[in-house]
Amino acid sequence: MGKQTSVGFPHGKNHQGSTHLTTSKIILLITLTLITLTIIIPQYFPFHKFPSLSNSSNHSSTISPANHSLDSLIIVDDNHHKCDVFSGEWVPNPNAPYYHNTTCWAIHEHQNCQKYGRPDSDYMKWRWKPDDCDLPIFNPYQFLEIMRDKALAFVGDSVGRNQMQSLICMLSRVEYPIDVSTTKDDDFKRWYYVSYNFTMATYWSPFLVKFTGPTQTGIFSLYLDQFDEKWANHLDEFNYLVLNGGHWFSRPSLYYENNQVVGCKYCQIDNITDYPMTFGYRRAFRTAYRGIMSKKNFKGVTILRTFAPMHFEGGEWNGGGDCTRRKPFKNNEINLEDSNLELYLAQMEEFIEAQKKAMDNGLRFRLMDITQPMLLRPDGHPSRYGHLPNENVTLYNDCVHWCLPGPIDTWSDFLLHMLKMEGRISAQEKLINQRKRKIVS
Ligand SMILES: *[C@@H]1O[C@H](CO)[C@@H](O)[C@H](O)[C@H]1NC(C)=O
Ligand SMILES: *[C@@H]1O[C@H](CO)[C@@H](O)[C@H](O)[C@H]1NC(C)=O
Ligand SMILES: *[C@@H]1O[C@H](CO)[C@@H](O)[C@H](O)[C@H]1NC(C)=O
Ligand SMILES: *[C@@H]1O[C@H](CO)[C@@H](O)[C@H](O)[C@H]1NC(C)=O
Ligand SMILES: *[C@@H]1O[C@H](CO)[C@@H](O)[C@H](O)[C@H]1NC(C)=O
Ligand SMILES: *[C@@H]1O[C@H](CO)[C@@H](O)[C@H](O)[C@H]1NC(C)=O
Ligand SMILES: *[C@@H]1O[C@H](CO)[C@@H](O)[C@H](O)[C@H]1NC(C)=O
Repeated sequence: MGKQTSVGFPHGKNHQGSTHLTTSKIILLITLTLITLTIIIPQYFPFHKFPSLSNSSNHSSTISPANHSLDSLIIVDDNHHKCDVFSGEWVPNPNAPYYHNTTCWAIHEHQNCQKYGRPDSDYMKWRWKPDDCDLPIFNPYQFLEIMRDKALAFVGDSVGRNQMQSLICMLSRVEYPIDVSTTKDDDFKRWYYVSYNFTMATYWSPFLVKFTGPTQTGIFSLYLDQFDEKWANHLDEFNYLVLNGGHWFSRPSLYYENNQVVGCKYCQIDNITDYPMTFGYRRAFRTAYRGIMSKKNFKGVTILRTFAPMHFEGGEWNGGGDCTRRKPFKNNEINLEDSNLELYLAQMEEFIEAQKKAMDNGLRFRLMDITQPMLLRPDGHPSRYGHLPNENVTLYNDCVHWCLPGPIDTWSDFLLHMLKMEGRISAQEKLINQRKRKIVS
């Protein structure tokens, strides 16, 4: 296995402040490995503005009739409450996948790996097994029952959209949503589940804060202290918010605060300080969290979906890098390192800080900590099977997004699990807040 060094990427270890992390997480992160593999984050990463969903065929007839009698029973056993579901291994699951490119129209062209000739199918046949409990396979009936009369928004980059499309496919056994988007812009989709009065929306906001660009030379301007109002102004409409951000922060950017340039990333302009990627990353999240807390009418649950590592090996995204592995890693075969580790720790620290403030304000912030599980899945990306072989696409080998069906379907397992836990956790938090108030008064 070729050990790769990432080019043009800050290696500064600026994560000394990570003492907030749980010990088990730290141990997980710094466990010595047998194999060393450095995941490369390219300097300038071309996330596509994808074309609209493939919807040529109409598969509504393939949906089986709903049978709620058992499926909608929602049981959370005590064991689950103590279990860290994000710590575990991938184990074979012969029953997967739970949908197909012929039964789900929501699969993006570029993630329809079977259509574009991916020869293997084992990458669809794994499930996540937490060390200390089981993570139930997604049950679409339960999910929709919990979401009845509610609304959920995904905010972030195209990996967030990838997650939503996977969820639409996972729910397709029960019902397909209708398109109730208020704009023709595919970056802002709104889907409605008629029988459940459940709305699901996606807001494209790759930096989470206000930005402009790119300029002709490919530089973005990030207003690190300003909300991206495209989503922040709609928060009131939602009960759940799934936030994500990551890969875009490696793009060349000018950083603004108070409308003044305060620094940059890869801008190569004299007299402007070039900061590590975590500089913009931390501030953007801080601002996003502040935005959420400032919306007086938003009472929903904010879920941070931690970033999902890319898996380019043998070069960068534009230098022949590819992801050709055909099975998951074991935990002891790979580590979160270098820039991945820095991003992860920065994301964690900002989250934990914000979560404390949120709790004081009676708001619920939750962590969907998929970084380690997804680090183990180099086999789940489209690679060159996201388009025709001779097609001229910017990202020829896609080692960033995830094939559908594929490992990202597991995020729905996590999400449902978190929703089931939510009732209990929030009751506990209310109790803690009441006690706090008693002590203070
Ligand atoms: C899809 O199916 C529905 C009902 O089965 C039908 O009314 C509609 O015209 C079909 N749409 C397409 C695009 O074929
Ligand atoms: C629903 O599931 C139950 C239990 O598996 C079964 O007894 C019943 O016949 C099913 N009903 C329908 C309509 O499929
Ligand atoms: C689904 O995948 C098969 C290959 O398994 C391919 O032949 C077919 O064109 C794909 N269909 C759709 C609708 O994507
Ligand atoms: C549908 O859900 C919304 C909240 O998302 C709620 O305001 C509305 O009353 C619900 N409609 C019905 C008919 O229950
Ligand atoms: C796809 O087709 C279905 C059924 O005809 C329709 O309800 C849905 O809105 C369509 N989706 C898009 C993205 O056009
Ligand atoms: C660098 O910035 C300082 C303060 O903004 C300014 O006074 C100075 O002229 C700048 N130097 C160059 C070479 O642009
Ligand atoms: C591929 O597309 C890019 C941009 O759309 C263009 O500049 C380039 O010439 C194209 N290459 C080929 C081989 O068609």
